[in-house]
Amino acid sequence: MRLVRLEELKEIKPFDCGDADLNGFLCDDAAYYGSEMLANTFVLETETETVAYFSLLNDKISQTTIAKNLWRKIRKTIPHEKHLGSYPAVKIGRLAVSLHFRGTGLGTDLVSAVKQMLVNNTGVSACRFLTVDAYKDALPFYQKNGFRLLINDIEEENFTVPMYYDLKELTMIKAE
Ligand SMILES: CC(C)(COP(=O)(O)OP(=O)(O)OC[C@H]1O[C@@H](n2cnc3c(N)ncnc32)[C@H](O)[C@@H]1OP(=O)(O)O)[C@@H](O)C(=O)NCCC(=O)NCCS
Repeated sequence: MRLVRLEELKEIKPFDCGDADLNGFLCDDAAYYGSEMLANTFVLETETETVAYFSLLNDKISQTTIAKNLWRKIRKTIPHEKHLGSYPAVKIGRLAVSLHFRGTGLGTDLVSAVKQMLVNNTGVSACRFLTVDAYKDALPFYQKNGFRLLINDIEEENFTVPMYYDLKELTMIKAE
């Protein structure tokens, strides 16, 4: 298996994660998002098929968009005399594992790889949090991977739930 940037692929190998929107994004939209600098997509593939993919884009956690109690909780993790009104983040725009490989730990491995990519990031831009608008069905998956809710109540009519992971936790685990 190899993990590659979408742009490096000559062709996208067959993929089915059981969700038409997520299948369609990889085949029809991901290249456009890349060329328009809206999201970068990474593909995990074997010789014959696409195993999984994820896309990443910049984001922020902002005081103006979340409840006061949650904002206080987030702000407490950042010791700084002058707290900011928002903190930099990277968002998992899409994440999907092929039905053939579902439940084998690959999703967890990919989320761990993303966290490592961001913590080891030697690029120019800082990022403190990893965010995701999680499908409700995938909520237990993200919770198992250390993500917390960015809302107080999960509304029945909403299809996704905003969540975040504090990347600083990873650097503290390393230091221990
Ligand atoms: C969600 C998804 C990416 C998880 O990938 P995966 O490789 O199947 O997950 P893992 O094998 O690493 O699972 C880790 C844990 O999360 C749980 N989990 C995974 N998907 C779950 C789901 N849909 N509902 C409930 N629990 C789930 C697993 O039971 C597992 O727990 P365990 O270790 O105690 O057995 C994958 O199921 C998927 O592509 N789903 C369809 C698309 C989707 O929902 N994408 C997320 C969009 S935000």
